[in-house]
Amino acid sequence: MSAAPVLEVRDLTVEFTTDRGTVRPVEGVDLTLRAGEMLGLVGESGSGKSVTSLAITGLTEHTGGRVVSGSVRLGDVEMLALTAKERAAVLGRDVGMVFQQPRRSLNPTMPVGHQIAETVRRHCGVSRREAWDRAVQMLERVRIPDAARRAREYPFSFSGGMAQRVMIAMALACEPKVLIADEPTTALDATVQATVMELLRELQHDLGVAVLLITHDLGVAWGRATEWRSCTAGRSSRRARSVTC
Ligand SMILES: Nc1ncnc2c1ncn2[C@@H]1O[C@H](COP(=O)(O)OP(=O)(O)OP(=O)(O)O)[C@@H](O)[C@H]1O
Ligand SMILES: [Mg+2]
Repeated sequence: MSAAPVLEVRDLTVEFTTDRGTVRPVEGVDLTLRAGEMLGLVGESGSGKSVTSLAITGLTEHTGGRVVSGSVRLGDVEMLALTAKERAAVLGRDVGMVFQQPRRSLNPTMPVGHQIAETVRRHCGVSRREAWDRAVQMLERVRIPDAARRAREYPFSFSGGMAQRVMIAMALACEPKVLIADEPTTALDATVQATVMELLRELQHDLGVAVLLITHDLGVAWGRATEWRSCTAGRSSRRARSVTC
């Protein structure tokens, strides 16, 4: 029997009002992500992938858009019905997020270990000491060499690939059920892309986290799909396609 869905999106439609009228880049999207699965959301640039991921995390209003219909269930919780405060508690604890520009997501004025520890303290409710230990462990887990020392360094001393591994460490530090990775390798060069994808696949497997992998690069998604023989293709929306790995 297949695992229970950790994320279930039904009939999701997002609207923006622009100078040229109303646009609906996301219309009637359905997605089901089960525990331990990796679901690739693939589509050309502008097809609505990021709008979908922001709607899933309940952040549409920050982009000036509106969710006009649909449901986003994270386990038993309806994300679209949460207040901003309730949502903030869920994000970070149950949902980790990784974006395209790791450097832009990191605070340049704070050592990376402190940034991870801060997130851990806020979302996992542990002591300062435990949060720091968890930060170092997670940096080791994403294979940052000499993690205890590197944890005290600032983002500028990390390469793009290392900065993305730091973001992955931060996103997974509270052992979320779901990781949403929006173009996690797009800003990286080809060899680094491969190592970051390998790491994501390994963590998905070892930690049992379900991953929604968003990419415009079919090679990234299908590259994974060929490696995992159990892949099946399905339709997720009129514009973007999904493939479960
Ligand atoms: N804040 C906004 N205001 C108006 N329209 C928007 C806004 N954000 C997104 N859109 C519309 O939604 C469409 C989809 O945008 P989205 O960022 O989801 O694309 P994407 O599939 O993630 O593309 P990429 O691969 O380039 O990241 C855009 O083409 C644009 O028309
Ligand atoms: Mg995008």
